[in-house]
Amino acid sequence: MASESPPMEVKIRLSANAARLMRSRAPAILYEGPARTGKSFTLVTYARLLCEWFPGVKILFVRQTRKSLNHSILTLWEDVLGPDHPAIKPPKTTRNRDEYCFPYAEQEIDGAQYRGVSEVHLIGMDNPERLMSTEYDVIFVFEATELTLRAWSLAQSRLSRGHLPWNFMVADCNPASATHWLNLMADERAMIGDAETDRPKMLRIRTKLQDNPKFWDASRGAWTPQGNAYNRVLDNLPPVERARLRDGLWVSQSGQVYANWDPDKHVVQGKLELRDVHGTKRWWLTALDLQGLERVFADRRVAWFGIAVDWGYLPDPGSAALYAFDDRGRAFVCEEWHVTKKGLDWWAQKILWWQKKYDVRAIVCDTPQEKVDALNVMLHGKLNSQGDPIAQVAKKGPGSIMAGIDIVRFALDDDEEGEPRLRYLATASQMEDPYLREVMAPTGGVKEYPGYIYAPREDGRPNKELPVDRNNHALDRDRYMATYAWGNAHKARVEPAEPPTPLDIDIEFDLAQLRRDQRQKSRRPRV
Ligand SMILES: Nc1ncnc2c1ncn2[C@@H]1O[C@H](COP(=O)(O)OP(=O)(O)O)[C@@H](O)[C@H]1O
Ligand SMILES: [Mg+2]
Repeated sequence: MASESPPMEVKIRLSANAARLMRSRAPAILYEGPARTGKSFTLVTYARLLCEWFPGVKILFVRQTRKSLNHSILTLWEDVLGPDHPAIKPPKTTRNRDEYCFPYAEQEIDGAQYRGVSEVHLIGMDNPERLMSTEYDVIFVFEATELTLRAWSLAQSRLSRGHLPWNFMVADCNPASATHWLNLMADERAMIGDAETDRPKMLRIRTKLQDNPKFWDASRGAWTPQGNAYNRVLDNLPPVERARLRDGLWVSQSGQVYANWDPDKHVVQGKLELRDVHGTKRWWLTALDLQGLERVFADRRVAWFGIAVDWGYLPDPGSAALYAFDDRGRAFVCEEWHVTKKGLDWWAQKILWWQKKYDVRAIVCDTPQEKVDALNVMLHGKLNSQGDPIAQVAKKGPGSIMAGIDIVRFALDDDEEGEPRLRYLATASQMEDPYLREVMAPTGGVKEYPGYIYAPREDGRPNKELPVDRNNHALDRDRYMATYAWGNAHKARVEPAEPPTPLDIDIEFDLAQLRRDQRQKSRRPRV
């Protein structure tokens, strides 16, 4: 009996790489290649075909966070289903969907009967409980380089349903650094192959731009006008991005300013939670327990919140973040807006919202002073505990960039108790800006850190006095906050003659001290 879902009416041309993917019975596949080569399109198309071929199949779409699936994948998926597909009924916004259910169907393939309701579930790694509650036949991981190997293994453990004659998991990504675990897993020569067969743990399929009919006209053997325009964008990317996104190579960034940035350590799964402690409501940072895996930080009370802002409009985004500081003076970036084309009133709304919800004690902003003055008016003249306007301008001046960078490095280092001072919650990013995605620029702090590099000298070696001034907007924002929060502690470390700031003893005291310092300095005549 035929499936009741409408047959695919749109003719799609699938590339040889897509055919390889669909013929493969490998349990793990790395479907990698340059940007916009049709990887995600192919995977969601494959998902639809599996749902129709094998009624009753359960498929999982997973990404680092549930929210990040919305823009990147679900629009594509709903396009591939078409607006009248019964799986989209009842209509919901993609934001609120947990699953798509196909109509009940029966199908016979190779003498085997398949019947049931095919389902596609949507889960972010920020909700591991949901992940652990169901078993799947097929798992597609989008932007898989964002996941840790632990998160991948956790998802893989759910691949045990057995409705299909074979189970498999596909990682969809653009190449990242040469030493990324995904690249190593699929590498013939790497050391983490399967011990018994000595073969790589993943089948690697490399896509190319000619796989995408939007850009390549196979009948003429030539680029389409869109293809030509897109190739020009690719040619203008900086070298490492060009190698990865145009040429599809796994290359490592050299001359990194933040060489101590490590996403496995600095990006953690956790959330803010309001808890009632002896009748007082307090914000807590709670670690998400990835079942069976160790917690990366212990639950802790939030001592105070800070906000930092780097202004921007177009092509550079503005970037604002909410930082939660624990009792030991460690910060977690909890929420981040990294967006283009937003005016001051829009930013003020976001900040007001944060102020209303959280105990925000400091707002550190990029210059100019006039803009910050205007912001203070929009924040209804709210004062900080020292009686100063709550939003203040970040300290700037000769050498302040390099000095600030040093403080951010200090913040990324482990403190005396072995924890980094600055980390990101994996769910921090509030949206992926469409314009930034379009021009393939980083969509938030986690994306900016690894790509921030020193300008090369003539001999090719990095000039360690001169970071390249691009894709550093969240980084500037973090630098303002780091200078504000750890400026003194950092100074204490590099100049041991001064008594160390008792950051880890009494955060309240230290904050007051910081404010006094700042006021003193701002009283000095300007040069
Ligand atoms: N085989 C195809 N047929 C029609 N459109 C395609 C095809 N492959 C890709 N596209 C279009 O090209 C765009 C980029 O493809 P996408 O799958 O997002 O690329 P990637 O995941 O490799 O970055 C998508 O918006 C999609 O509509
Ligand atoms: Mg994609």
